Amino acid sequence: MEELLQGLKRTVYCGEVTKEQVGQVHTVMGWVQKQRNKGSLIFIDLRDRTGIVQAVLSEDETDPAIFEKASHVRSEYVLAITGLVAMREGAVNEKLGTGFLEIKVQDLRILSEAQTTPFQILDEVEVKDELRLKYRYLDLRRPRMARNLLLRHQVAQAVRQFLDRERFLEIETPMLIKSTPEGARDYLVPSRVHAGKFYALPQSPQMYKQLLMIGGLDRYYQIVRCFRDEDLRADRQPEFTQIDMELSFAEEDDVMDVNERLLAQVCKQVVGWEVPLPIRRMTWQEAMERFGSDKPDLRFGMEIVNIEDLVGQCGFGVFESAIQNGGSVRGLCVRGGASMPRKQIDSLTDIVKLFKAKGLAWMAFQEDGTVKSPIAKFLSQETIEAIKERMQAENGDLLLFVADQKNIVLTALGNLRLELGKRFNLMDPERHEFVWITEFPMFEYSEEENRYVAMHHPFTMPMEEDLPLLETDPARVRAKAYDIVLNGVELGGGSVRIHSREIQEQVFKCLGFTMEQAREQFGFFMEAFSYGAPPHAGLAYGFDRLIMLLLGEDNLREVIAFPKVKDASCPMSDAPSEVDALQLADLHLKLDITEKP
Ligand code: AMO
Ligand code: AMP
Repeated sequence: MEELLQGLKRTVYCGEVTKEQVGQVHTVMGWVQKQRNKGSLIFIDLRDRTGIVQAVLSEDETDPAIFEKASHVRSEYVLAITGLVAMREGAVNEKLGTGFLEIKVQDLRILSEAQTTPFQILDEVEVKDELRLKYRYLDLRRPRMARNLLLRHQVAQAVRQFLDRERFLEIETPMLIKSTPEGARDYLVPSRVHAGKFYALPQSPQMYKQLLMIGGLDRYYQIVRCFRDEDLRADRQPEFTQIDMELSFAEEDDVMDVNERLLAQVCKQVVGWEVPLPIRRMTWQEAMERFGSDKPDLRFGMEIVNIEDLVGQCGFGVFESAIQNGGSVRGLCVRGGASMPRKQIDSLTDIVKLFKAKGLAWMAFQEDGTVKSPIAKFLSQETIEAIKERMQAENGDLLLFVADQKNIVLTALGNLRLELGKRFNLMDPERHEFVWITEFPMFEYSEEENRYVAMHHPFTMPMEEDLPLLETDPARVRAKAYDIVLNGVELGGGSVRIHSREIQEQVFKCLGFTMEQAREQFGFFMEAFSYGAPPHAGLAYGFDRLIMLLLGEDNLREVIAFPKVKDASCPMSDAPSEVDALQLADLHLKLDITEKP
């Protein structure tokens, strides 16, 4: 029998009952974590988003009708309990914040009954992800999810406070737009009114925030949903949230400065981390050469070492031919790795092969100074010594080498480094290594599209000294783009924007657009630049990623209330779903679905 509130008010949250309230009558409302019936005593643990408090009824003291009602209460019933706050008479629960208190029940209302839930509402209970997400509203009752969403809220508040003080205006931008080029596929929305035409959902508010600068708003931010139809990973969702900002009359340093202070403030305020400022900077080139990644995890060393000059004529054909073909040979030194069993070393080869390397050569210096290596037989003692010295190897260390085209060598070793970092526990979760990566290449070659694509986006300003290269050698043009990286995760990225029409046209040309195509896609945007555009620059964080890292979670799902799963579907609502023929007809759409082989 479900009862109504009828004016009853909560006076305190379950997790916030305190010693000061002992002797007072209070009303709590929430879900039954557990009911224990001990015959003459009934205990009810009541839970809300703040925590749990124990309520107690005794056959001798409680109104018999209430006692009887309480005896029928089961897990996840929703109750309102009114009673006297008291120090616990029975065992104190150290694990509970309210563990030394209890509420002696005077009144109890069953606001809602509950069937047995598909899983128990406890952090400790292992539940398959599919099931958690199918019943996300139950999953959200778990303390961990409540904690995560609370922190997410606190970060959003802290960001708003900070940016408000820095005179940023929070301005909304449209969700139904013309496609913005961020490099992923768009989610499209068909227009009913304009037969055959589509809106795109924004991959980011990029063009709009630039237009706000041209509109004179000077400083903008938004905590904004973005949509990208790309393959999901642990750190990617098809819809995700950015903290997006743009500043007028600003250059790289201005954006970095305000964002360093923002990060330091938020980290301090919300999770108590000290972020020493300034945050270090590293060029893209340096990050690639030393760590084989544009988002290096700086919590550990194991840097990539170049041995090209030592092995050009070393006698080992694989190394020699790599260098003759204009490639490179580089390696990693794994401290104490010499004792790794052969089988494990071989398994490392599979890792580099995922990144297109053809093999992994290795050299283990035993504690007694002897060398174990399938390639040592090709090399002179001198070469081995020179390599050992270059790589600062000591007895007991393992050296690993890849020979190939330079970009393959770096990427393969960079990923191998991360794997070894994991295996050897080198990534201290207590350390928070922020780094700015700067001077990204403007373009990268897309094998798929057979043309250059913008590495950040086409509105990014090339570095001044590289402007002449736009005509002659676009591959070498560096951009005024920067990423902020934390512990090997790209937290955010941005750039100084092009605000000159000529440069923008040149960049479009490099990207293979004819002027007609560019005008067709971005005409309104380019036109805006002819009416007085201030120099401007900006940045966007992955808000979900930031929360994930602040919490030490390893999947975005844990910090988003209703996330999607791998195939971009929602197990709870079953979206996406079919629509009826009438809806399709309204939108002038006909389906033509061919079975995938
Ligand atoms: P960018 O494309 O680098 O830049 O995106 C900014 C940040 O958003 C996060 N992010 C994602 N998070 C979760 N799931 C995704 N699918 C996803 N894709 C991106 C990342 C990334 O660093 N308009 C530019 C910003 C600018 O130039 O000001 C932009 O969107 O953390
Ligand atoms: P092979 O002579 O092909 O048997 O190779 C000898 C060793 O060199 C093996 O350990 C291979 O994994 C390794 N190797 C092969 N190709 C490469 C490469 N491109 N870079 C580094 N090591 C390689």
